[in-house]
Amino acid sequence: MMPSEKLQIDAFAMEIGDVADADLGQLHALSISVGWPHRAEDWQFLREVGKGVVATDEIGRIMSSAMWFSQSPELATIGMVITSPRLQTQGTGLWLMEYALKDLAGVNLRLNATRAAQRLYLSLGFKPEKKVYQCQGVATHPPADLTVSGELRPLTDADVDAAARLDAGAFGVARTELMAKLFQHSRGYGLFRDGRLVAFALCRRFGRGHVVGPIVASNDEDAMAVVAPHIRDHEGRFLRLDTHFETGDFALLVVRSGLAVFDTVLTMSLGKSLADFASGEADAPITYSLVSQTLG
Ligand SMILES: CC(C)(COP(=O)(O)OP(=O)(O)OC[C@H]1O[C@@H](n2cnc3c(N)ncnc32)[C@H](O)[C@@H]1OP(=O)(O)O)[C@@H](O)C(=O)NCCC(=O)NCCS
Repeated sequence: MMPSEKLQIDAFAMEIGDVADADLGQLHALSISVGWPHRAEDWQFLREVGKGVVATDEIGRIMSSAMWFSQSPELATIGMVITSPRLQTQGTGLWLMEYALKDLAGVNLRLNATRAAQRLYLSLGFKPEKKVYQCQGVATHPPADLTVSGELRPLTDADVDAAARLDAGAFGVARTELMAKLFQHSRGYGLFRDGRLVAFALCRRFGRGHVVGPIVASNDEDAMAVVAPHIRDHEGRFLRLDTHFETGDFALLVVRSGLAVFDTVLTMSLGKSLADFASGEADAPITYSLVSQTLG
């Protein structure tokens, strides 16, 4: 007998689970299935700083995920929203987002949406804010002749409070715990004037190589001064940074250093929008690169 040309695959029920209990290898396989660069260690880092849900099929395979990160009592970011390609457009993403939104009631929300996800977030009331340029590549031509006005030096644990304060001024809310955790995993350079930290850049292992973020400075010149040593440290190696800047000297330096725009995502918010995109007063700190798309 000839096999039939059609095979009916039954719809199956999905169960909700806690990302904290999920198998790390399966989470890693899920993000690989949508072409994301996260390593198992990157998932683990995110589980330590946030929470989330997974949808599993009847034999325990993870098919979808969503995570959220309380950055301060008034703000959370959402990320790692993934549905396995073979199950997309069947409502799973929306289902997991409903869990996130229930847990986050009353909190202002921010996320960075891929093109595939924008319709989902728009339907939930998220408003577009600003484009993020995902810049990455093999770092080349480290800048040699930058003007550095102040003292540039590696950061130590003693600098964490000053960095957290500067980041809070730029990001709009204080995310002290996250900054402390990032310090444990990162190498940092800071620019000091009159003994005061005026700009800094952290860099840590992530995905295919290293990521520089956050970078906080009040102008392009200072942002360039603190990113330059990271570019030098990683010459010939894969480096990434996610920035809201498309033009200007900082953006130019990034692209000239081999970190071309690979993709863009759209920062969206629900609730109160943060002040960090406002042009601000002179000398106000600005986020030049994100910690990551997931953490903002
Ligand atoms: C974005 C994503 C999580 C959506 O998951 P999903 O389980 O397919 O979502 P749902 O089935 O609940 O769909 C929600 C809405 O998005 C739409 N949608 C889903 N995938 C889409 C796609 N690839 N392109 C355009 N719209 C899409 C659905 O049609 C639905 O809209 P509708 O209610 O108006 O019909 C999934 O496509 C995915 O994992 N993509 C790759 C990873 C990614 O980009 N994640 C988003 C990070 S911000």
